[in-house]
Parts: sequence; structure tokens; C-alpha cells
Amino acid sequence: MRVPGENPSPTHTSLRSAAHRLRLDRQASHWLQKIDPLLTLGEVRARVVGILPETSEVTSFVLRPNGHWRGHRAGQHTLLEVEIDGVRHQRPFTIASPPHGDTLVLTVKRIDGGKVTNHLHDGLRVGDVVGLSEARGDFVLPDQRPERPLFVTAGSGITPALAMLGELANAGELKGATLVHHARSRTDIIARDRLVRWADAGLELHLFTDDQPGPRGFDADRFAATVPDFDQRETWLCGPPPVMQSARALWALRDALPRLHTERFVAAPAPSAGRSVQVTLRRSGRTLTLDGRGSLLEQLERAGERPAYGCRMGICHTCRCPKVAGTTRDRETGAISTEPRPIRLCVSDARSDIELDL
Ligand SMILES: Cc1cc2nc3c(=O)[nH]c(=O)nc-3n(C[C@H](O)[C@H](O)[C@H](O)COP(=O)(O)OP(=O)(O)OC[C@H]3O[C@@H](n4cnc5c(N)ncnc54)[C@H](O)[C@@H]3O)c2cc1C
Ligand code: FES
Repeated sequence: MRVPGENPSPTHTSLRSAAHRLRLDRQASHWLQKIDPLLTLGEVRARVVGILPETSEVTSFVLRPNGHWRGHRAGQHTLLEVEIDGVRHQRPFTIASPPHGDTLVLTVKRIDGGKVTNHLHDGLRVGDVVGLSEARGDFVLPDQRPERPLFVTAGSGITPALAMLGELANAGELKGATLVHHARSRTDIIARDRLVRWADAGLELHLFTDDQPGPRGFDADRFAATVPDFDQRETWLCGPPPVMQSARALWALRDALPRLHTERFVAAPAPSAGRSVQVTLRRSGRTLTLDGRGSLLEQLERAGERPAYGCRMGICHTCRCPKVAGTTRDRETGAISTEPRPIRLCVSDARSDIELDL
């Protein structure tokens, strides 16, 4: 125990000096950004240097990051941070450009009612500065490149494939690669001109749109006829949940799941725990009855709360919140937690009445 007036312990001293340092760093960052918004101590920020419309709902933002950016691997994503009405919001977006040069591209689809995507489309201008996390994610090409990589994508799910194919194009290795892409219509195909150029350079390109005769979306029979040896090839799959589900089922049928690499932009529909519980929110003092449908994040939102979130699928940790009491289950790991500990609201179910530090 420490007695007042006694010499502080080494741990206490180093914590105090760390806190002091943090305060100074924050002040320094604040004043540096007054001089130039790109000047920060350690934080990655990027200036918008280009805005390119792709389709009626999709726009590419070309960003030049500051010196804290440590680069990315083709297929990785970043958490973009913007301030809207004084509140900072983070959302994950794939880096749609290959890792070379001093800029990177985020290709963003406008979501109906979406806070950040609409703000980017309607409010972001060339010259503005946004925040970025370090690049993250393991949906990437291996260092030892497979001979005949296959990419199966739909809608905005093409963005990681754009980065990976861009890397193959830069290396002159498009021959042997195949892209099967699905879009609502011809005018909804993102980066269409680039795809055609890559096809001229050796990419095997198959574009299916719902405005053509034939099945809509991903169709297992059509796909198997298009790429008969798909189950022998390393494959990268990204698209909306129905496409992901149908494709996974086909790979499972052929016992080829180990060769299928997947990236989701939205969480797969989760089976509902269906258990009504009471949640006490320590900070606001509210007690809510939740209906058990969906994640704790969705249930809290339906009850009128607005917890911070980013990805809504367990990867960004923005919704992490200390659970003070009660039992929860992490849907991703299946782990049951009975101890006080932080939980990710977007992938947790309550298994008893709980108390959150919210
Ligand atoms: C790894 C990864 C990479 C991605 N890459 C790309 C990419 O390259 N390009 C791209 O266009 N997209 C990409 N996405 C998807 C992108 O992150 C989302 O479209 C984006 O986060 C939506 O943000 P928003 O603020 O516009 O929408 P939000 O306002 O966050 O709304 C999104 C959804 O959340 C739900 N929601 C939000 N608020 C509430 C509430 N109060 N109550 C109930 N429900 C609510 C709604 O279902 C809504 O449709 C990626 C996602 C991931 C996980
Ligand atoms: S919102 Fe990203 S982990 Fe929950």
C-alpha cells in the first residue's frame, strides 16, 4: 500500500510519466493539425486527391496518406475515420488499389440511409483530410502466388479483387487468372474499362449481369459450366450474403472449401438466440428489456441506444464495451463469458440479464 508522502513506486512513476506524455502528445497533435491536418504524432491521415465516379451508386476516392502509413497488401482493408456533425465515425473499406505509388483508392458504394457512405459521396471534397487505420486483414494473395487464381465477386465485393488483379497486372501475371463478376446491370459494373483492359492483357473475364437473359446473381450450374475446374483452384470470393452462401454451398459439395478464401462486407445472418433479457446500462442508469433478436448491438439500437460501431461484424472492435455482470456468448468463437470483461456488442448474445458499462 502506498502511504501519502511516500516515494512513488517505479510502476506508479512510469504510469504518471506515460499519462503526462500522452497529454503532451495530444496537445502536440492538436497544434500540429492546426498547422496542417496531415501532421500528427503517429496517426495515419490522408488527403483526398481525386474523386472518380464509378457507377450511379459507387465512387472511388483517391487518397494520399501521410508518412505514418505503412503500406498494405492487395486485398486488405482499412478503417476510414470521418467526423460528421462533430462525431467521429469509423467504417471498414477495402483498399481497391494495388500496393504501389504514394496513393491508395477506396471504392465506396452508397448504402441506403448509411451515415458514412452517404457523407463520403455527398460531402467529401478534393483537399479534405480523413483518418485511416493501418491496413489489416488476411484476405490477400499468398507470397507464393497460385498458378491460376480464381476470383468470384459480386457488386462492390469486387474491390479486393481489383487490388489483387491490379497487383498481378503490374507484375505481368494476369495470364491464368480468372474473374467471374456479377452485377445488377452493365452500368453497375465497377471499373469496367480496367477489367476489359486486363482481359486484353490475359485475364479470363466473365461478367454476368441481371439485365441479361439467364439466371440472376450467382448460379451454381452456370458457374460450374463457366469454370469447370473451379474446385482445383485457389479462389477468392467476396460479395453479398446470398452470393457467398450459394458459392460456399457449391464448394462444400465438391469438398473444395480449403481452397476457398472469403471476405464478407456484411455479417452473415445469425440465428437468433431468441431470449428476452434485461440489460442495465451503468452510465445512463437505464434498464432495458431486449427481445433477443439479433446481436446485442442491434437490440440496443432497437431500444433507442446508439452505441458506437464500425463494421458490425466483429472485426474493428469499435463496439467493444465492458460487460460488468451477466453471461454472454460470442457468436464467432462460441465462447461463453460469465466474468466481467469487454465484449463486442455486434457479435454477442446475452444469455442472462446483464449489466454493461454504457
Ligand atoms: C472488411 C470490409 C471491407 C469492406 N470494403 C468495402 C468496399 O471496398 N466498398 C464498399 O462500398 N463497402 C465496403 N465494406 C462495407 C462498408 O463497410 C459498409 O457499407 C459501410 O460500413 C456502411 O457504412 P454507413 O455508415 O454508410 O452505413 P451505416 O449507417 O453504418 O448503416 C449500415 C447498416 O447498419 C444498420 N444500422 C445502422 N444504424 C442502425 C440503427 N441505428 N439501427 C438499426 N440498424 C442500423 C443498417 O442495417 C444499415 O443498413 C466493407 C466492409 C468490410 C467489413
Ligand atoms: S462494430 Fe466492429 S467489432 Fe463490432
